[in-house]
Amino acid sequence: MSIPCTEVYPGAVHLPRFLSLGEQRELAERCQDIGNGPTGWYVPTVRGGGQMRVRMVCLGCHWNARTYRYEARRGDHDGRPAPPLPPQLSAVAVRMAEAVGMRLSPDVCIVNYYGAAGKMGLHQDKDERPDTLVSGVPIVSVSLGDTAKFIIGGLTRKDAKTMVPLASGDGFVFGGPSRLRFHGVAAVLPHTGPPELGLEGRLNLTFREGPSPP
Ligand code: SIN
Ligand code: MN
Repeated sequence: MSIPCTEVYPGAVHLPRFLSLGEQRELAERCQDIGNGPTGWYVPTVRGGGQMRVRMVCLGCHWNARTYRYEARRGDHDGRPAPPLPPQLSAVAVRMAEAVGMRLSPDVCIVNYYGAAGKMGLHQDKDERPDTLVSGVPIVSVSLGDTAKFIIGGLTRKDAKTMVPLASGDGFVFGGPSRLRFHGVAAVLPHTGPPELGLEGRLNLTFREGPSPP
């Protein structure tokens, strides 16, 4: 790989500062426009009844936080159809996957907006189609704004974990044997993002392939 990157585990690669400031600004504006639009941000309530510590909007297909299934409409929120996934967003994920020698044809992007108290518990991304999980089609994560303390561990919850600071413009690709690693966000470090983005907090986009059929 000729671009700066760190392989944290086989198939789990951090791409620091992959995106230029201009690209970050465009993506951040696009996400804010969608999030502030009519089918925009909401705070998901998970199966156990707790509220997530992020605002979310799913593009291309909706991830239902109560059923852990993908669906066309936001069945756990307002019933509206998920907004489309703009090709300009998908193109960034395809570039990141290719940069580490992987392939992704994204049909879903979950956009999370973290405020100063935002975090995300340890979990696996395993609601996509089984064939994509088995073949290790990667998840591509793009971070914008404030830096997050991203935690990634093993295939069981109790395995040893590593902290990777994800800063604005960074990519993180986890596929192959790392596709089902537990991961989460321990904290977001306020006011660490580039002021030029005009973004308070952090945006994270995770691109995925293979939402399960309804
Ligand atoms: C996620 O795992 O869905 C989000 C990860 C992140 O915000 O970096
Ligand atoms: Mn995840």
